[in-house]
Amino acid sequence: MRRIRINGRRQLKGLIPISGAKNAVLKLMAAALMAPGESVIHNVPHIQDVFTMVDLLKTLGVGVQFEENTLRLAVGEQIGEEAPHELVRKMRASIQVMGPLLGRLGRVRVSLPGGCAIGERPIDFHLKGFKQLGAQIREEHGYIYAEVKELRGVDIQLDYPSVGATENLMMAAALAKGTTQIRNAAREPEIIEVQNFLNQMGARIRGAGTDVIRIDGVETLHPAEHTVIPDRIEAGTYMVAGAIAGGEVTLQPVIPQHVSSLIAKLEEAGIEVSVEDDKITVYSTGSYRAVNFQSLPYPGFPTDLLPQVMAMMTLAKGTSVIRETVYTNRYKHVSELRRMGANIILADRSAVVQGVSALSGAEVVVPDLRAGAALVLAGLGAHGTTIVEDDGHLDRGYDNLVGKLQGVGAEIGFLE
Ligand code: UD1
Repeated sequence: MRRIRINGRRQLKGLIPISGAKNAVLKLMAAALMAPGESVIHNVPHIQDVFTMVDLLKTLGVGVQFEENTLRLAVGEQIGEEAPHELVRKMRASIQVMGPLLGRLGRVRVSLPGGCAIGERPIDFHLKGFKQLGAQIREEHGYIYAEVKELRGVDIQLDYPSVGATENLMMAAALAKGTTQIRNAAREPEIIEVQNFLNQMGARIRGAGTDVIRIDGVETLHPAEHTVIPDRIEAGTYMVAGAIAGGEVTLQPVIPQHVSSLIAKLEEAGIEVSVEDDKITVYSTGSYRAVNFQSLPYPGFPTDLLPQVMAMMTLAKGTSVIRETVYTNRYKHVSELRRMGANIILADRSAVVQGVSALSGAEVVVPDLRAGAALVLAGLGAHGTTIVEDDGHLDRGYDNLVGKLQGVGAEIGFLE
């Protein structure tokens, strides 16, 4: 258990460097499995989810070298076919090796992901798509077995624009015979990353970033080298930090378009945001209005920033109505925020946040990754000392969170 101490209400000033996108790099690591040889990925963040994916690739027989922010993945002619329980339970994104292994080997065995802190997260869309591509699927002893002689391109209509299902199916279909179209595909920037990486490997995919993706299957792929885009959720988290704490915080590098829904909400709240090339600066007095918002698939407001902006709204002038539409349980931090003095009423997937004039520091416990970020941000805005207890959630997704906040003047550090 790590304990982070924050003395709140210090203005922030300076530049925070933004790391590579977690939700892109994990999928590129999985995609590398599809071609024998050495693939290289640059701008890889040092976060636990990447280390878990490294462990998974190693159990599949991949040679991994991770130096500075560059990952070298030496993929053999022979690779394993099983994602074991102890890794899938640590990180649900392990299921993203299904598409690559099914495409390359025609068989894969993956432990069924269990319950998850932010609510039910089934994988039925992934499995339905694999079946449409011709795979036989069975579940036994907590594992999913998928097998196919030859994947065949097909039209797939997703019931929901699931990010993971879109990516998993794109990867499998890249090595299928014939053409696959994925309709109602997720449009997240990370999907474009997967398309670009696969195309560099020799795949023939177009349409990522729109809701129809067309994949013309090819027989084999070759290794590729790629630099990962900046993490829009990390950038968004620090933008909100600047808004809550007040001051002048610059994030770089970022792709401003990837956080446009957050910029719009911050501006609506009365916060000044300036955008220049790959840089965003947030100017805040620490005083802002309440705004309403709901999470939606991209380009809507990201569910992964909802807890952080909710923390911000606890100190807004007025009442904010927030609705989570993607997950069933994104409000695990609410009881902790209440212990800091926040006024929040929950009804099903909606939250009504009545802004208060001050939060008071307290000991709080991190329930999941983004909720943990929200508690750190609340600590930055609270009077007195907040102790955030975390058993590893924040390290899953934030590279050097404490150091980066210290770099802009936050009084934050680890307690021994
Ligand atoms: C990815 C991101 C996660 C982000 C989410 C939504 C990674 C590693 N994680 O997760 O940070 O919060 O996108 O932007 O990239 N669903 C089903 N059946 C399925 C698949 C999904 O019902 O087969 C549901 C989920 O339970 C959830 C919704 O669809 O309610 C969205 O999930 P999805 O877009 O698949 O998210 P992930 O890819 O798991």
